[in-house]
Amino acid sequence: MTALRNDLLLRALLRRPVPRTPVWIMRQAGRYLPEYRATRAGAGDFMSLCRNPELACEVTMQPLRRYALDAAILFSDILTVPDAMGLGLHFVGGEGPKFERPVQNADAVRALRVPDVEKTLGYVFDAVRTIRRELDGAVPLIGFAGSPFTCGTYMVEGGSSRGFPTIRGLASEAPEVLDELMDKVAETTIEYLNAQIEAGAQAVQIFDTWGAALEPGDFRRFSLASMQRIVDGLTREKDGRRIPVVLFTKGAGELLSDLAETGCDALGVDWTTDLGTAREYVRDKVALQGNLDPATLRESADAVRAGVAETLASYGDGPGHVFNLGHGITPDVDPDRVTVLVDAVHELSPQYHES
Ligand code: CP3
Repeated sequence: MTALRNDLLLRALLRRPVPRTPVWIMRQAGRYLPEYRATRAGAGDFMSLCRNPELACEVTMQPLRRYALDAAILFSDILTVPDAMGLGLHFVGGEGPKFERPVQNADAVRALRVPDVEKTLGYVFDAVRTIRRELDGAVPLIGFAGSPFTCGTYMVEGGSSRGFPTIRGLASEAPEVLDELMDKVAETTIEYLNAQIEAGAQAVQIFDTWGAALEPGDFRRFSLASMQRIVDGLTREKDGRRIPVVLFTKGAGELLSDLAETGCDALGVDWTTDLGTAREYVRDKVALQGNLDPATLRESADAVRAGVAETLASYGDGPGHVFNLGHGITPDVDPDRVTVLVDAVHELSPQYHES
């Protein structure tokens, strides 16, 4: 395997010194890019894109051709795991994800099986291998999965939801049923991420978009505990390199201090917590990734540069920062604003690192 030419991301995630802050963007391959929209139109729909390793590789590479990013992220979706567990995923135009067979009661949870990931998700591992070949050591490849609770919200509600009434009902009325659902999704996710690592993912991120919608006690029992199981079950070293694990609970706030105790290497932070405050919560135990408000990218180029400067200053001096947005980039963003963001990180971040 070719040597990695740019390992800034891996070093920063392990809080090792870097000459500047590395940068990548959540949803960097996506609808704001005209070339992505063209490839998706050619594929027919989003899941056809995910299931075709050559096309998944193509869209993974698209943002890297435009911007001086320090990482690639596998093109896929967190909902491929529940799909592999038999729920029947499809994306309805404009309405987001839908499951044909949601899991809404104890019998349905009991009937769920941990699938053979090689058989059901082999297309993802093929995509990882194809992307690694194409990257040829330029930057590291990030693999990912959803947190069991975040996947669970879609599995139980049957799609996107406001307020998550069904899964929150389970949490209060049948918590042991929800425990069992979390266990089965966590078990599948361990197999899934370890197979991504085996295929060539050099860091992994767990997206916990909805865990913080729970009250703190329930967050710890369902979302945090199931992510802890995953962290404990992951392959942490491959070919002599540590595989960093990033947990991203959107809206975590002071729960960051609990997340920092899981043994992960880094935490994603959204824009509702200053990085300086987040750093106090985690007391330099883990690296931090974030956290410019994605809405800033809808503003002027000057506003984007100012936002980057503020984010870097908020983290302050020293290693352990990976620049990112506080959540995924939105489809309405002008791709030129991303150039401004990436260039500003390159230009403004060296002053926070010892050369
Ligand atoms: O970051 C990347 O570039 C990698 C690819 C990636 C996608 N989804 C591609 C995608 C990743 C990491 C995700 C994660 C994901 N998917 C999350 C967690 C992170 C977050 O954004 O909160 C969640 C909750 C999902 C579930 C999901 N996928 C929803 C609710 C939707 C529909 C809403 C939406 O944003 O369109 C998707 C579709 C999806 N996943 C798209 C992309 C590029 C858009 C599909 C399209 O092309 O129409």
